Amino acid sequence: MNYQLNDEQLAVQEAAREFAQKELLPGVIDRDRTMRYPAEQVAKMAELGFLGMMVSPDYGGGGMDTLSYVLAMEEISKVDSSCSVIMSVNNSLVCHGIEKKGSEEQKKKYLPRLATGEWIGSFCLSEPGSGSDATRQSTQALRDGDHYILNGTKNWITNGGTSKLHIVIAQSAPDKGHHGINAFLVETSWPGVTIGAKEDKLGIRASDTHTIMYNDVRVPVQNRIGEDGSGFAFAMKILDGGRIGIASQALGIAAGAYELALRYAQEREAFGKPIVQHQAIAFKLANMATEIDAARLLVYRAAQLKDKGLDYSMAASMAKLFASDVAMRHTVEAVQIHGGYGYVKEYHVERLMRDAKITQIYEGTSEIQRLVIARHILKGQLYPPVFY
Ligand code: CAA
Repeated sequence: MNYQLNDEQLAVQEAAREFAQKELLPGVIDRDRTMRYPAEQVAKMAELGFLGMMVSPDYGGGGMDTLSYVLAMEEISKVDSSCSVIMSVNNSLVCHGIEKKGSEEQKKKYLPRLATGEWIGSFCLSEPGSGSDATRQSTQALRDGDHYILNGTKNWITNGGTSKLHIVIAQSAPDKGHHGINAFLVETSWPGVTIGAKEDKLGIRASDTHTIMYNDVRVPVQNRIGEDGSGFAFAMKILDGGRIGIASQALGIAAGAYELALRYAQEREAFGKPIVQHQAIAFKLANMATEIDAARLLVYRAAQLKDKGLDYSMAASMAKLFASDVAMRHTVEAVQIHGGYGYVKEYHVERLMRDAKITQIYEGTSEIQRLVIARHILKGQLYPPVFY
């Protein structure tokens, strides 16, 4: 594996770091408290090209590789995971989904708007009654001439209050099981699309998570993504890429907490010396550094496999599984190192701890990642590809 970053990747990392520190840090505690959507910050992310990083310049995007995207996600997530989830869904689920499997007409119509942030997108798979068991789609899109009629409810939709375009996964032929599922591009201005209330969440509180209702929405056939019945495989493939985005978010949360804990441990004194000089604290930091670095290697490897056009499904699940556990474990440790100060909002680490939890849940729970990894093993793939 080669993680020597090239000049472009280093420049992206630096730009994201500067943006996060200057533009996101100042208001992040207040946005978390009030659940205020970061509209100005998202507009700035659009201006800097963070919303369509991997989209080809032919469709208005940055034409960057996945590793550059991961580096930007990591830096932004060190500070504000509400912003990074907005970025992740738009980049790796919506834009990547359309670019990978959309028709030329769909790409030309939607990608320039999404990649420039004029529109934000959502990925609508989960339902009130099905999250992990994604083949069990109650939402139906039944064919009616040159349209599909879409009915159903989707849950936990990131960007749900602001997005202008949804990728909706729905069942078109219940008798065919998951081979009857399709993916559709649905504009939120179309009649029959209703946005439910914003969820009041433990973490990523400034991101807008909503329930969405579809009531007799007429979706033109040309807005179906791919062949009839290919929607489930499409959703799975796109989630493989999405999981690299969430893994990089988890990595950033862990690294952000580690950096804050280290700084605090160097400044805070107890028993006559900085607490970092006490082995109890130094060993915590040693564990953090080691596990965060291991997570980083997994995340960067998954990104590089994707960039090389190699199979990255197993690698993406491993990266998300490990990085999200590292984020949870070490944000708790960062709070512990801060003592009482860690328990109050001003010191940021309690927010990072709350934000970390969702990375073990969305885009496939840790249990689903283990299931995906185990299935690869049972098929004879002992490990993801490694290259030097
Ligand atoms: N790429 C392409 N195709 C795939 C695939 C992949 N990675 N994984 C599975 N498939 C295909 C299989 O080949 C199979 O096709 P055939 O029947 O034609 O052979 C088909 O999909 C069904 O696969 P399985 O038999 O493995 O299906 P399953 O029901 O046993 O399990 C699962 C699949 C892995 C559990 C899946 O349901 C899953 O990933 N669940 C979690 C869903 C999830 O991640 N939800 C997140 C919501 S989105 C979100 O959080 C967004 C947000 O806003 C932040």
